[in-house]
Amino acid sequence: MQIQEAIKQGTGLVKLHGWVYRERKSKELAFIVLRDSTNIIQCVVKKSNVSEKEWADAEKILIESSVEIEGEIKEDKRAPTGYEISVTKLNVIHFSEVFPINKGQSVEFLADNRHLWLRSRKMTSMLKIRSTVFGAIHEYFRSKNFYEYQSPIFQSVQCEGGSTLFEVNYFGKPVFLAQTWQLYAEPAVFALEKVYCIAPSFRAEKSKTSRHLTEYWHAEMETSWEGFKELQDYGEGLVKHIVKKVLETNAEELKILERDENKLKPALEKPFPRITYTEALKVLKEKNNLQVEWGKDLRTIEEDEIMKNYDTPIIVTHYPKQVKAFYMKEDPSDSKVVFGYDMLAPEGYGEVIGASEREPDLEKIKERLKEQGEEPSNYEFYLDTRKYGSVQHGGFGMGVERIIAWVCGLESIKDAIPFPRTMLRYKP
Ligand code: 4AD
Ligand code: MG
Repeated sequence: MQIQEAIKQGTGLVKLHGWVYRERKSKELAFIVLRDSTNIIQCVVKKSNVSEKEWADAEKILIESSVEIEGEIKEDKRAPTGYEISVTKLNVIHFSEVFPINKGQSVEFLADNRHLWLRSRKMTSMLKIRSTVFGAIHEYFRSKNFYEYQSPIFQSVQCEGGSTLFEVNYFGKPVFLAQTWQLYAEPAVFALEKVYCIAPSFRAEKSKTSRHLTEYWHAEMETSWEGFKELQDYGEGLVKHIVKKVLETNAEELKILERDENKLKPALEKPFPRITYTEALKVLKEKNNLQVEWGKDLRTIEEDEIMKNYDTPIIVTHYPKQVKAFYMKEDPSDSKVVFGYDMLAPEGYGEVIGASEREPDLEKIKERLKEQGEEPSNYEFYLDTRKYGSVQHGGFGMGVERIIAWVCGLESIKDAIPFPRTMLRYKP
C-alpha cells in the first residue's frame, strides 16, 4: 500500500513501505516521517508497543533508511499531512549511512549530489509534473492525428547555425549531434503528412543562463498542407493542453513548489496575443521605453521587458529574414520578413517555441545556405523535398524544460530536468 492510499483509508490497519524522511527520538518514542512516491506521513513508534529488537532498530534508524511498517492510522491535525500512524510492526530493510544532504546546502553541493537530491520533495514534484507534460504532448499530437516519428541524432548537417553544434568524431569523420529533427522530419511529411516527436536536442551553448541547457528535450512537429496560421493554432493548442493537464493532475505538486496556480490560469482562459515583430518593437518603445532598431533580433532583455505587458504567452510573428534560419518562408507580400514565430512565455521564461512555415523555393534556400557559408550540395537530401511533389508545410520546436520551468515557476531551467547538462556541468 502507498501512503496516499493509506491516508484515503483514514482509519484502521495499514501496511506501508518507504524511506525515512525525518526522524526524531526520545526515551519512549520515535517519530518517523515516512516518504514514498505519493506523499509523506508521520509514524510514531512507542517503546511499549513494539518488540525489543524493533525498538533497538528504531533507535538506530537514520534518514533515508528503507523500512516496512504496520500500524493504525488516524487523523491528527498536528501531523505534517494530517494523519499519523501508531506503529505496531517495524522492519528495517536497509539502514542508511548518514545521508549527505541536509538543510542549507549550497547549489553546487546539491548539483554534485543530484542523484540523491532527486528524492527531495521539490525535485519529486517537478519530476511528476514533467511526466504530466510529456504525457500531455503525446496526447495532444495524437488527438490531432499526428504520427510519432524519429530522426537520427547523429546528423551530417547543421540546421540552427554552426556556433552551437556539437561535433562528434564518427570513425574519423565529423558528424553533429542533433540540434533539431527538422531537416529529417520535412522529408517524412511526404510519407506521413503530420509528424511529431519528443527527443533530446543538443546545443553547444557557451552561455551560462537560467534558460539554456546543452542537452534538452525538444518536442517538435511538422505538418503538410497547412500554413502559418495553423502552426500558430497548434502551438497555442499544445501549450494550453499542457497547462490544463498540469492544473488537473498536479495541484499538490504545484503547492509543494509554491507555484501560484493563478499565474497559469490566464494561459488556459485567454487567447494568446499574436503580434508581429514590428508591432513588438512598437510595444517596447511605447510601454517599456525601450528602443530596438528594426532588423535586430530580440534579446533576452527585450523579451523579458515585452512580457511585462502580458499574463499569457504571446506569439511574435514576421521576424526580419536576417535574424532567422535559412529554411523559413519569405512573406510573399514583404520579402524582408519571414513566416516564422517565437512563442514567449510570461514572467521572464523567454522563448518556448520556435516555428515557421518552410520556404518552398529551392533557389532561395540554396542562396540563403550560401550566405551562411554552407555548401548546398551537403544538403542534397533536404533539397530533394522541394523537387518531388513539394507542398506547403511547416513546423515548430518547443523546449520542454522551458515549458516545465515556467509551469513550475522554477528559478532555473536546470531544475526542470533530472540531470542537467550545461557548459560547466556534465556530472554526475
Ligand atoms: O528556436 P529553435 O532553435 O528552433 C528549432 O530548432 C527549429 N528547427 C524547430 C522546428 O521548427 N522544428 O529551438 C526550438 C525551441 C526554442 O524555442 C526553445 O524553447 C528550445 O527549443 N531551446 C532550448 N531549450 C533549452 N536549452 C537550449 N539551449 C535551447 N535552445 C533552444
Ligand atoms: Mg528560436
